[in-house]
Amino acid sequence: MIAITRDVPSTIARGLRTHAGNVAIDLELARKQHEDYRHALETCGCDLIRLLADDDHPDSVFVEDSAVVLDGTAVIARSGAVARRREGKLLEPLLPENLEITSIEAPGTLDGGDVLVVGKQIFAGLSTRTNAEGIEQLSRIASRIGYRTSPVEVHGCLHLKSAASAIGEGKVLLNPELIDASSLGDIDRVLIPGNEAEGANVLLLGNRVICSVAFPATVGLLSDLGLTPIAVDNSEMRKAEAGVTCSSIIIDVPA
Ligand code: GLY
Repeated sequence: MIAITRDVPSTIARGLRTHAGNVAIDLELARKQHEDYRHALETCGCDLIRLLADDDHPDSVFVEDSAVVLDGTAVIARSGAVARRREGKLLEPLLPENLEITSIEAPGTLDGGDVLVVGKQIFAGLSTRTNAEGIEQLSRIASRIGYRTSPVEVHGCLHLKSAASAIGEGKVLLNPELIDASSLGDIDRVLIPGNEAEGANVLLLGNRVICSVAFPATVGLLSDLGLTPIAVDNSEMRKAEAGVTCSSIIIDVPA
């Protein structure tokens, strides 16, 4: 696996906050935690691509939102947030050359944080960042390479993956308060412990799963499910309204 990551910009405190309060972010701690996160990715078997910070885009460390990689195809996103809209096109020339590039075009909008892939099924969050046209375009691109796409309404959180993450073949960890869980069809659902509302954002890499130390009951649950949790301290990124999936794009390289 390859993990694309980007350095934390000096401007991160100016990033968008939709549901999060405007709590001060400690830049140096954010940078240290981001290095620890990169180390966790390496522990999980990823080779890192480390992009330089883009200070003009305070949320640009959250590369997940800028592109979705499905097998050998990259879908360049177009955020519903105008302040983040150029991030996808700016990332495009920095992606590995062997990817086929496709793009979400106006009037479609899409953030990668709204794209939950479970095997060959994609769930795409209808959110403030992703609209029905963006999902339709994603669906057309993805269907060419064998994926089905279904929309899921998101409410009370930024992205679909704030509320649900893949934790195995046909299995999702989720917070049912934030999405219409009936849209997930026959997917096996594991509910997060009730007092850990943000715990549903985890990053599955093989049998390991990167998760946040802030949600110990969720860490225990993942372990009980037979996974190996790698818990990272992401306190500063959480203040910027980001979970553990947001700071990387994972490319599964065929063996
Ligand atoms: N601050 C993360 C985002 O709004 O996209």
